[in-house]
Amino acid sequence: MNAIVQNLPELPLSKRLKTGSHRDHDSVDNLVMGARPFESLERYANFLRLQHRFHGAINSLYADAALNQLLPGLNELPRFDAVCADLSDLALDVPDAPEQVQPSSAYAALGWLYCSEGSNLGAAFLFKQTQQIGLDGERGARHLAAHPDGRALHWRQFVALLDGLPLAEEEKEQALAGAIEAFDFYRETLKEIFVQA
Ligand code: HEM
Repeated sequence: MNAIVQNLPELPLSKRLKTGSHRDHDSVDNLVMGARPFESLERYANFLRLQHRFHGAINSLYADAALNQLLPGLNELPRFDAVCADLSDLALDVPDAPEQVQPSSAYAALGWLYCSEGSNLGAAFLFKQTQQIGLDGERGARHLAAHPDGRALHWRQFVALLDGLPLAEEEKEQALAGAIEAFDFYRETLKEIFVQA
């Protein structure tokens, strides 16, 4: 066990989630880029189907009353509707809303939300790539556009909420397990959608 892992319990929750899931992030990042989603509108359509499955599966977490108590303002953040609008912009079928994930606890759900909200940061890069195929925040790439307050500020606010939660050690462990589960879900869905393509 290396020093970083041994010191995980002393880190604020956000840093712990980042450190504990960075390998999962990097593998997902590599898989997304390897799928070349911005090479053509056909490939981007598959990326939108992937985003629809991911954001659709966690949509009800954003409306959950207990989670909104932990993270005030959470219900203003979901991007599922924007993903559906992106599909419609491109005259693609909008699939039925996917089955909702059922994290094992509210703390595990925090990990799923960390994964989803953090993906807004990398989305800055993805958003730029969509220009290559003629899309923008008003057509086809709405769900990748920056939050009106800016990505960085929005992320700092989310992190401050996470780090302000008085969680027990075991609850932080559950949050990390939830984040890893979310990255696993994304990875498996990506493989399924892009292999079928
Ligand atoms: C090609 C695809 C992706 C690229 C290039 C990418 C890139 C990045 C970059 C550069 C950051 C750090 C930004 C910063 O610190 O300012 C970041 C953060 C993050 N990304 Fe991604 N990302 C990708 C896909 C994803 C996906 C699909 C997810 C989730 C399903 C995700 C989840 C996260 C999370 C949770 C963070 C926050 C890490 C932290 O600071 O705690 N990313 N990403």
